[in-house]
Amino acid sequence: MAIKFRLVLLSLFCLVFKTISAAPISPGSSLSASNGNQTWSSPDSTFSLGFVPADPPTSPPSFIAAITYSGGVPIWSAGSEIRVDSGGTLQFLSSGTLRLVNGSGDTLWDSNTTGRGVSSAQLDETGNLMLRNGTASVWSSFDNPTDTIVPSQNFTVGKVLRSGMYSFKLIKNGNLTLLWNNSILYWNQGLNSSVTTNLTSPSLGLQSIGILTISDPNLATAAIVAYSNDYAEAGDILRFLKLESDGNVRIYSSAKGSGTEVERWAAVTDQCQVFGYCGDMGICSYNDSNPICGCPSLNFEPVDPKDSRQGCKRKMEIEACPQSVTMLDLVHTRFLTYPPETDSQIFFVGISACRLNCLVNTACDASTSLSDGTGLCYYKTPGYVSGYHSPALTSSSYIKVCGPVVPNPSSSLDSASKKKGWKMKAWILVLVVVASLLGLMAVEGGLWWWFCRNSPSFGSLSAQYALLEYASGAPVQFSYKELQRATKGFKEKLGAGGFGAVYKGILANRTVVAVKQLEGIEQGEKQFRMEVATISSTHHLNLVRLIGFCSEGRHRLLVYEFMKNGSLDDFLFAPEEQSGKFLSWEDRFKIALGTARGITYLHEECRDCIVHCDIKPENILLDESCNSKVSDFGLAKLVNPKDHRYRTLTSVRGTRGYLAPEWLANLPITSKSDIYSYGMVLLEIVSGRRNFEVSEETDRKKFSIWAFEEFEKGNIKGIIDKRLADCVDMDQVTRAIQVSFWCIQEQPSHRPMMGKVVQMLEGITEIGKPPCPRAIIEGPVAGTSTSASTSAVASAPTTSSFSSFQISGVSPSAPARNMEKATASLIQSDRS
Ligand SMILES: *[C@@H]1O[C@H](CO)[C@@H](O)[C@H](O)[C@H]1NC(C)=O
Ligand SMILES: *[C@@H]1O[C@H](CO)[C@@H](O)[C@H](O)[C@H]1NC(C)=O
Ligand SMILES: *[C@@H]1O[C@H](CO)[C@@H](O)[C@H](O)[C@H]1NC(C)=O
Ligand SMILES: *[C@@H]1O[C@H](CO)[C@@H](O)[C@H](O)[C@H]1NC(C)=O
Ligand SMILES: *[C@@H]1O[C@H](CO)[C@@H](O)[C@H](O)[C@H]1NC(C)=O
Ligand SMILES: *[C@@H]1O[C@H](CO)[C@@H](O)[C@H](O)[C@H]1NC(C)=O
Ligand SMILES: *[C@@H]1O[C@H](CO)[C@@H](O)[C@H](O)[C@H]1NC(C)=O
Ligand SMILES: *[C@@H]1O[C@H](CO)[C@@H](O)[C@H](O)[C@H]1NC(C)=O
Ligand SMILES: *[C@@H]1O[C@H](CO)[C@@H](O)[C@H](O)[C@H]1NC(C)=O
Ligand SMILES: *[C@@H]1O[C@H](CO)[C@@H](O)[C@H](O)[C@H]1NC(C)=O
Repeated sequence: MAIKFRLVLLSLFCLVFKTISAAPISPGSSLSASNGNQTWSSPDSTFSLGFVPADPPTSPPSFIAAITYSGGVPIWSAGSEIRVDSGGTLQFLSSGTLRLVNGSGDTLWDSNTTGRGVSSAQLDETGNLMLRNGTASVWSSFDNPTDTIVPSQNFTVGKVLRSGMYSFKLIKNGNLTLLWNNSILYWNQGLNSSVTTNLTSPSLGLQSIGILTISDPNLATAAIVAYSNDYAEAGDILRFLKLESDGNVRIYSSAKGSGTEVERWAAVTDQCQVFGYCGDMGICSYNDSNPICGCPSLNFEPVDPKDSRQGCKRKMEIEACPQSVTMLDLVHTRFLTYPPETDSQIFFVGISACRLNCLVNTACDASTSLSDGTGLCYYKTPGYVSGYHSPALTSSSYIKVCGPVVPNPSSSLDSASKKKGWKMKAWILVLVVVASLLGLMAVEGGLWWWFCRNSPSFGSLSAQYALLEYASGAPVQFSYKELQRATKGFKEKLGAGGFGAVYKGILANRTVVAVKQLEGIEQGEKQFRMEVATISSTHHLNLVRLIGFCSEGRHRLLVYEFMKNGSLDDFLFAPEEQSGKFLSWEDRFKIALGTARGITYLHEECRDCIVHCDIKPENILLDESCNSKVSDFGLAKLVNPKDHRYRTLTSVRGTRGYLAPEWLANLPITSKSDIYSYGMVLLEIVSGRRNFEVSEETDRKKFSIWAFEEFEKGNIKGIIDKRLADCVDMDQVTRAIQVSFWCIQEQPSHRPMMGKVVQMLEGITEIGKPPCPRAIIEGPVAGTSTSASTSAVASAPTTSSFSSFQISGVSPSAPARNMEKATASLIQSDRS
């Protein structure tokens, strides 16, 4: 009996004890930061809510109110790690709200559950803290996560994990995303591609054995996102998912009571891909295995020398050095390019244009050229740039700095594993290079001084800057005054092209130049500079080189290299006795080939593909040894960027005889329109006559039509310039004539690409018998397009049904890049 009574008593005691330890947190109780032993625990003490010292420790000490797993690993905190001093308290008020208050009595965080009938609070065995009205949960820590998800916690759409600038979200279609500053999406992972069902209300959950899954009413079984690498390993282990302050999401496991956590999975495998990991203007790279943060060069210094992740700042701000702004070149580096970059910040331009356009554009702070064959260039407006350097990256990046550039000592950005001997060699190399550069600069400076000491502009900063820039191939910016002086007040006019008059000038360094005074510029300063950079980055033996520009008020001028021999039309059409100029067949063939090569470069070889739009003898210049150079390229866009088809402009300035029929038929203008014009020029080179000339000799037909008829009859000699007499290579002449007929085909798709033209002229590619180009020739001359010709042209392939202007310069139109390929294959199929 007594024993029985004792037993009952014992079990009663046990029961009481258990209820006490698992007692709900009663209203009115509180925890204080100064007493770390005071906690509210789950029934088996697996989890507890209390104050823990902030990590890393601060002085004076500060604390956060957190739910921790046995051993001290935090899984939730009040207000995402809001810190309180040692006087802080966490109060469960009788009004039913949970409140974090600091020593001075200010409320720093509140669950906002006052007046919702909350009568009890409890931390359960899964780590969930609930505020309840009776048995209904009004508020829970699982529904208000901070940076961690534990097993049996459901993470649904609309919930967010946050850590510093970073956030982790589940989106409606089941994708998991990581964002920086709520805007830059740097990680976006979809479901296993074998899942094709549309989800209605996905929910992310971590199973206690270590699988991360997404479940949804529409899915029969949950889709697996990731396995923890200690998946299903037994033992008293808590696995949890946490968004770390480094912007990565990881799964960790923590053995009960150990207080330590071991990484088991990471969302972003390449930590340097995390946007902003190294702060603003910081460059992320790897030493053996760890990501490390550095500054782009010694023109920068760390914001916080003790914490390299805080980013870098310029030692001298750009605004402080308007005269010496230059681009720091960073190879194998990319300024992380994640959406949303607006269209106005993404361009298809070449590598050097990507650098130069940014340099001359005040709205650009840095740029990245992917250099992977896509031609993509990203501009970074002043703001936040996040860099990634790795020898495996093809991209090159550029960032504005106040010159001179001071590179990092030994490239600390490169793998630090390099051997010492190698480092020594690198040092010696750097020293030699620097020494030779200094020597060169001294010599150059000396020469400059020698030649220019009498020049009025000598000593002015801008002239020195100009010299450096000229040497580096960048366009020089001239003041209007300088150009006025160089041209002696625009005295010696060389000609008047489609875009404005051209004057001869002599620069301070004795270079003879041609100065073009542009008319009808509708562009703003910024756009103008950008176009200038694009044009000047186009270098080819057969293209006239742009030396510099002037953009001042309403003045827009371009400075070109001077061509001693003037333009081709002087040689071809002016009566010999008048000009004293005559070209042998050899020269003519060289000019035809050179011109074709120059245009090929514009169309196919340079990254900023340019459609010239006004090829004619007047725009083909000759140097002293009769090398031809194409001029005026890239100007069509410059003068009228809004009218992408350039039509209104041509009707005013374009040159009739050379215009492809599509100009008049209101069809898309492509590089094939240049081919047409070139074909006309080529015929003129052979014949020495204007293609649209009508005379008795040609039966009152237009020369090009008459020539084709004669060619059909086999009378090639009749087409050739009489002045050449018999001093011609008949093979070359025949090839040239056939090529010209191919080029002036009515259907753009029938015309060859320029590269093909070069090959045909050289005799590398066989030339088929050209079909009659006739139908079209009537059109342009009459100034009307007959319905027959219009419909014939209209049936041209629609692959080219957008403006080719988009390829020139700075437009992000990917399809444009495919157009050439498409039309090229058409030619082949047409001709086979
Ligand atoms: C907390 O507990 C530890 C041992 O469990 C004890 O040494 C310490 O004095 C306690 N601190 C307070 C403030 O009670
Ligand atoms: C308490 O919090 C308020 C508001 O955040 C702050 O101004 C005050 O300095 C804090 N007091 C202490 C002692 O930390
Ligand atoms: C509680 O309400 C205040 C004021 O409306 C708000 O600033 C705070 O963010 C809310 N707290 C929570 C945890 O939602
Ligand atoms: C609390 O719950 C009871 C019954 O479950 C309900 O009648 C009451 O309205 C609730 N209180 C609040 C404030 O929602
Ligand atoms: C999580 O979701 C599952 C199914 O959707 C549900 O059975 C479970 O109760 C939820 N857990 C919590 C803590 O809400
Ligand atoms: C974060 O975004 C806001 C606006 O979306 C912006 O004002 C702020 O400057 C950004 N922060 C940084 C560090 O760029
Ligand atoms: C979901 O993620 C995949 C990559 O895993 C991506 O291709 C897709 O665009 C994403 N969907 C959305 C809506 O972001
Ligand atoms: C997708 O899931 C199927 C079956 O669940 C699995 O066999 C396959 O490996 C998964 N694919 C990926 C890319 O995870
Ligand atoms: C998913 O949604 C898309 C767009 O709403 C729809 O086209 C598609 O058929 C849907 N797929 C399934 C399997 O329901
Ligand atoms: C790599 O960087 C980490 C963190 O900065 C450092 O602890 C480690 O020693 C470095 N390793 C090498 C090989 O330099």
